[in-house]
Amino acid sequence: MRVLIDRVTGSGPTIGDLSSEELHDLYAIPSGPWLRVNFVNTVDGAATGADGKSGTINNPADKRVFDLLRSEADVIVIGAGTASTEGYEPADQPIVVVTNRGTVPPTLTDAPSGSLLIATHGASPGLDAARAAVGAGNVLVLGDHTVDLVALKEALARRGFQNLLSEGGPTLFTQMLAAGVVDEVCTTTVPRLVAGDHVRIGHGMSVELSLQLRLLLEEEHSLIARWFTG
Ligand SMILES: NC(=O)c1ccc[n+]([C@@H]2O[C@H](COP(=O)([O-])OP(=O)(O)OC[C@H]3O[C@@H](n4cnc5c(N)ncnc54)[C@H](OP(=O)(O)O)[C@@H]3O)[C@@H](O)[C@H]2O)c1
Repeated sequence: MRVLIDRVTGSGPTIGDLSSEELHDLYAIPSGPWLRVNFVNTVDGAATGADGKSGTINNPADKRVFDLLRSEADVIVIGAGTASTEGYEPADQPIVVVTNRGTVPPTLTDAPSGSLLIATHGASPGLDAARAAVGAGNVLVLGDHTVDLVALKEALARRGFQNLLSEGGPTLFTQMLAAGVVDEVCTTTVPRLVAGDHVRIGHGMSVELSLQLRLLLEEEHSLIARWFTG
């Protein structure tokens, strides 16, 4: 993995393989709380392969950064769709599932207490069931009829989580952008085209936003970037 553009450490292009320490420095967050969202996509913008999952388009270069971002994160935030489609299981960091319905994803029902938080709203039909499943203290009620994503970021910061990593999906990402809570978007563009009718990394309402390119890495024809929203 080599550096093409580095506006993070300012150390300039590096030829040769980046060490774990160099990669760690290149992905340092400026301050907390900081919410970054990480996605992989194809050159033609697809966020999934033919099976409707991201695992069929990602590759070792993407996995290396995916793992690094996870290891740096205090908490992982995902939408209920991603939790169930991608079959999320308990991780080293607590996972927050954002859901209107109050759904507890089946693959996370056995998560140890405190390693799964459900973020929902007061009118959620699944509120009582979610409280019964994960404990009332692990259900964040953020808003009366919709999940207030600004309040979510604040609530997670109050719990001591500063480095917030969202792994999607596209619906949650778009709503986070609309709410103005995303500080950074990390993308891996893999050297593939899939055409077809796949979801993009943003989905749902229209959102217009300019980004600043902070970092661009290349490995095996994949382009791996950090984009800041500020
Ligand atoms: N390429 C990548 O890196 C990547 C990453 C992640 C996902 N994906 C792919 O994206 C697809 C899933 O897309 P998606 O848009 O359905 O994912 P999603 O955003 O994770 O899930 C949508 C669901 O999450 C809940 N949700 C999302 N935003 C919410 C909000 N603001 N408030 C309350 N609930 C909210 C709702 O769940 P309820 O119905 O329970 O209310 C909604 O139906 C899958 O194919 C997955 O493989 C790709």
